[in-house]
Amino acid sequence: MKQPIFAANWKMNHAPADATAFMRAFLAHFGKRQDRGVIFFPPALSFGAVVGALKDRPDIQLGVQNIYWEDKGAFTGENSATIARASGAKYVLVGHSERRHVFGETEEETGKKVAAATRAGLTPIVCVGETLAQREAGETEMVVLRQLRAALSTVSSNDAGNAVIAYEPVWAIGTGKTATPADASTVHQAIGAELRRLLDSGSTAVPILYGGSVNRGNAADLLAAPEVDGLLVGGASLDAEGWASIVLT
Ligand code: PGA
Repeated sequence: MKQPIFAANWKMNHAPADATAFMRAFLAHFGKRQDRGVIFFPPALSFGAVVGALKDRPDIQLGVQNIYWEDKGAFTGENSATIARASGAKYVLVGHSERRHVFGETEEETGKKVAAATRAGLTPIVCVGETLAQREAGETEMVVLRQLRAALSTVSSNDAGNAVIAYEPVWAIGTGKTATPADASTVHQAIGAELRRLLDSGSTAVPILYGGSVNRGNAADLLAAPEVDGLLVGGASLDAEGWASIVLT
């Protein structure tokens, strides 16, 4: 049994003072433990506040929600993987559905971001997922596996083997609709099989997280589903006590 991963994607929520207050409350509920991994993805401008709040908790990891694929230069408004790494991030979300669907990020761009993350020593959490129309058209696996291959096509199979994948059906994100554990498991198994093909190995250590309207009520069942190695949580990660209860699932 792998150590489950609980990743909190705060999106555009929690200014620095809120982030500090959140951490104080969260840490009061969550003592150090070896049997689960916790990663926070604060907004870039609140990142430093969270680094400060976690200075005595090296057991908790940090990531950024986005990077640009160049290492440095005249790219006003962007942050590089190198800057993220130097600021204390270990992870970066790549290809989140809001990046793809709100900001028009392409599959090619997700590949460039995975390459940039890898160069800088950040672990990419590659998010894949189908829209409702694609699910209804029976295209779920085709879309998810295409997104997966595009994202990992820019790095060696060795580096791809160090990534994390998050299956997040677009229709389930922020909507209150969750995939059933069985539905999630089916897609996770397809992702796992594709990874074994891509990485040319009988087994992989690549964790596959589920995300999309995870909450206190459904977290345990989703986590118990075969090939679900952790949870990527948006809305339900914003309240310190609620998030602690999910992490302690
Ligand atoms: P949600 O978001 O938990 O609010 O559905 C998940 C995500 O976007 O990562």
